Amino acid sequence: MIKKWLRNSRMGFLSGQSGIMRRMLREEGGWQSHLIKTSEYIQQAVKDQQPKSIRILGSGWLLDVPMQFLIERCERIILTDIVHPNQIINKYSGYNNVEFETLDITGGIVDLIYNQKKKDFEGNEFIQKISAIKPLIFSEDIIVSVNLLSQLSVILTDYLTKKIKLTDIQSMAIMEEIQKKHIEILPAKKSVLIFDYEEEYHDEDGKLIGSKPTVYTTIPRGDGKREWNWRFDTKMMYKEDCKTILSVIAIRL
Ligand SMILES: C[S@@+](CC[C@H](N)C(=O)[O-])C[C@H]1O[C@@H](n2cnc3c(N)ncnc32)[C@H](O)[C@@H]1O
Repeated sequence: MIKKWLRNSRMGFLSGQSGIMRRMLREEGGWQSHLIKTSEYIQQAVKDQQPKSIRILGSGWLLDVPMQFLIERCERIILTDIVHPNQIINKYSGYNNVEFETLDITGGIVDLIYNQKKKDFEGNEFIQKISAIKPLIFSEDIIVSVNLLSQLSVILTDYLTKKIKLTDIQSMAIMEEIQKKHIEILPAKKSVLIFDYEEEYHDEDGKLIGSKPTVYTTIPRGDGKREWNWRFDTKMMYKEDCKTILSVIAIRL
């Protein structure tokens, strides 16, 4: 228990989660349109597919998840995250149809990276190790990956970079492999994938001054595609001297 907490703290999962809440509050209304669009997309998938059970991957603070809607319609709602905020556990643990599952959604890449020694690191071999990790299997009627894909990989490569000097190519190859494996665990015909794929940087006057991809793997075409912008950081705190807007896609796989 303590060991997991230490790992989550050292790797930035705890600060990452409180960072999300702080930024959401700081941005006031700026996040609302993204959160509402994500939530509405999930609601539509549930209306269409009428699942008895639903699993949310990357549930965190549930800012983007229509919990009341799900509680009224689903027999089992499984919230899945590497760490669940206490406030969320307190709020929902009284519901018979809400369950919390605390696990590493990558199936073990977190521990692989946490335990990696600098002296033993070899780029290609490391990617092979990631690739060999057995994927988790989810059996619920709908699986929703909610604003998780880019964070899943960047938090891990950021941590690895603290120990090992990765080249940009190595870092991108690792992110690509992590993201590819995430897409592979989403079962066909019953998954929803909502993810950011690009960061756009704008100056104070709103002029575009640069951009960077956040997804390095190929995303399947999917159905019911929707796209929108997420005004992620207008206070110029995420990237100094610019406002960051994320480009988001939602698809049904
Ligand atoms: C950007 S948040 C998604 C937004 C979230 N639905 C919310 O409202 O807070 C990503 C979530 O994924 C979780 N996460 C990141 N990597 C994970 C992993 N390897 N396994 C399980 N959860 C992970 C984080 O703890 C965080 O709660």
